[in-house]
Amino acid sequence: MEIHSRHYGRKNARALTADDKNLYATLYSALQFVGTATDFPSVTDSSALGVEHVSTGIQKKQLDPGSAPSGLVRETSSNQSFGDVLEIGFGMGDFLVHQALLHPHLQFIGVEPFKTGLISLLKKIKQHKIQNIHIYQGVVHDILGKLPLLSAIYILYPDPWPKKRHHKRRLIQKEFLLQLLAHLKPGGGIFIASDHADYQQWIEATLKDTFGSVCGSDEPFENWIPTKYEKKAKLEGRLSRYYYISRYRFL
Ligand SMILES: C[S@@+](CC[C@H](N)C(=O)[O-])C[C@H]1O[C@@H](n2cnc3c(N)ncnc32)[C@H](O)[C@@H]1O
Repeated sequence: MEIHSRHYGRKNARALTADDKNLYATLYSALQFVGTATDFPSVTDSSALGVEHVSTGIQKKQLDPGSAPSGLVRETSSNQSFGDVLEIGFGMGDFLVHQALLHPHLQFIGVEPFKTGLISLLKKIKQHKIQNIHIYQGVVHDILGKLPLLSAIYILYPDPWPKKRHHKRRLIQKEFLLQLLAHLKPGGGIFIASDHADYQQWIEATLKDTFGSVCGSDEPFENWIPTKYEKKAKLEGRLSRYYYISRYRFL
């Protein structure tokens, strides 16, 4: 299936105030992620990447993107910094801010087309004087070829697109996951969460199709704070599932 690069959801929800516009004009342009064109190999098969599902039971030691999981990393030497973290669809930005404050030594990239969410993140960055978040306003597909090697990628509560005719709009697709994996450092991982039962089945089927197996958990990852959508799901009685995929060696 072709990876779509259109954004189908909202881009603006409310009119921006003069302060919002000013913040956007000054801070967003200062923090905007531009990236450098990279030449990662195109991948059609996960076996070429050396990927492995890791049971959520051992995630506790794997979730700090600042420390590579010892048993899985082979090529990373101890003095090499374990790089950047990407959040795709950061919504209002709470999780990104939480992680950036927890890991001030890492550089974070947040991607979100929704302008109201972007303004919300900019306000939090200003409030906490955060210096390690870079932002791209748009769809992640536009910057896939410009990303650095990453140690963690978060996709939290992606839009479920419940109608069957809209399933092709779902972010979690085999080709997309393989593209993301090509950008992962050894030992790095992709973290996915969803509260939507049908999308959970879709994610599990896609992970199985892509990697041959699937590991999910009802327990959130370590250092977790619930996102806006996770809180909403809990209030409305929907159970979340959490998935983790690790890349453990270079090509
Ligand atoms: C259901 S919301 C979840 C937001 C947030 N992660 C949370 O848990 O509260 C999904 C978000 O993904 C964003 N999104 C959708 N397609 C995207 C894409 N292709 N690239 C980046 N973000 C995307 C939407 O604008 C929306 O803010």
